[in-house]
Amino acid sequence: MTDYPYVPGLAGVPAARTSVCYLDGNIGKLQYRGYPIEVLAEHCTFEEVTYLLLFGKLPTRNELAAFDAELKSERRLKFRIIDVLKQLPESGHPMDALTAAVATMGMFYPGDHVEDAEFRRLTVVRIIAKLPTIVAAWHRIRRGDDPIKPREDLGHAANFLYMLDGRVPSKTAERVFDVGLILHAEHSMNASTFSARVTGSTLADPYAVVASAVGTLAGPLHGGANERVLSMLQTIGESSPAAVRHWAEDRLARKDKIMGFGHREYKVKDPRAVILQRLAVQLFDEMGATPIYDTAVELERQMADLVGKKGIYPNVDFYSGIVYERLGIPIELFTPIFAIARVSGWLAHLLEQLQDNRIFRPNQIWTGQVDREFTPIDER
Ligand code: CMC
Repeated sequence: MTDYPYVPGLAGVPAARTSVCYLDGNIGKLQYRGYPIEVLAEHCTFEEVTYLLLFGKLPTRNELAAFDAELKSERRLKFRIIDVLKQLPESGHPMDALTAAVATMGMFYPGDHVEDAEFRRLTVVRIIAKLPTIVAAWHRIRRGDDPIKPREDLGHAANFLYMLDGRVPSKTAERVFDVGLILHAEHSMNASTFSARVTGSTLADPYAVVASAVGTLAGPLHGGANERVLSMLQTIGESSPAAVRHWAEDRLARKDKIMGFGHREYKVKDPRAVILQRLAVQLFDEMGATPIYDTAVELERQMADLVGKKGIYPNVDFYSGIVYERLGIPIELFTPIFAIARVSGWLAHLLEQLQDNRIFRPNQIWTGQVDREFTPIDER
């Protein structure tokens, strides 16, 4: 029995003391380790932000170079992990392949010493380094192509894009994708991060932690929303105010959720959506515009009018798909890309959780019967 009130979805209930990510959703303020997201997106690389998230401070040039070299040296996959990917059905979703591959890594790199600082650091670097290689390898394998080996002369973002199709991206494409990774790297106590902390609190190995977080991220109310935003915009198909409003009103009347809108924390436009929208426009300058962007802008305008007073505005997923599509990335990779960014946040939370760990074991509110009389099977 407990006197605590039941809070569906644990909304507003603190699950940890943390110094990884600060978020004030009333004014759209987001900071990693005390640094505004806007500043990090403008000045840093994903590798630098990952260092910040994991170790709590911005790296010096030497520290960043050493960290970068560690990541690069860990990018390649064991051929037997590639063999495992080859056994998976090509119709399966890449998030399921990613979950399977990360869990498999735990078997190839055994060790249950999460309390050993050296093991923890090596494992964390290994997972962050290899996730993009897994996603790109599976993308190619399911189409019948050989995986492309990572290149050590490319940064994290450029190397991932290169491993998809063997082409080195333009500087603009690399930078835009890198900023996308930074924006998705961390976001306080979201469902997948909570999942990572819960699994980590059992002292499970970090591969199991990340596998459970990837599985949680895959859902359409969480990371899976970015794929659906693009198909939704394609379905709307037009950008005239009347057509978009009609579509939105119809959806809202049916109580359907409109993908890419709303957030448990934000009551204003997600600051990451603001940056991604700017990036999209930057990209269009170099690569040409995409008509779907006009539909998105109109939908944002109509939604502000229809549900803005309820605090429902675009979230990070609203413009990310448009950016990825313009970069030529297939839609089914959008959520795995979210994972290759968010893994830095998950692992920063894992390291924090392990510093002062207590296993998660919440309570429940009983709604069933007690002391029921058992009826033997033949008498039921
Ligand atoms: N479209 C229409 N109505 C919405 C939406 C939306 N996207 N989001 C919230 N609402 C309404 C909802 O119907 C409810 O209205 P009422 O009070 O009249 O019943 C009210 O706003 C509160 O919604 P909720 O679902 O109780 O809010 P929540 O905090 O439990 O859920 C959310 C947050 C993100 C799951 C939800 O806004 C949603 O389903 N959005 C669409 C999916 C999406 O874009 N997800 C990505 C989230 S950001 C990235 C990430 O976390 O991975």
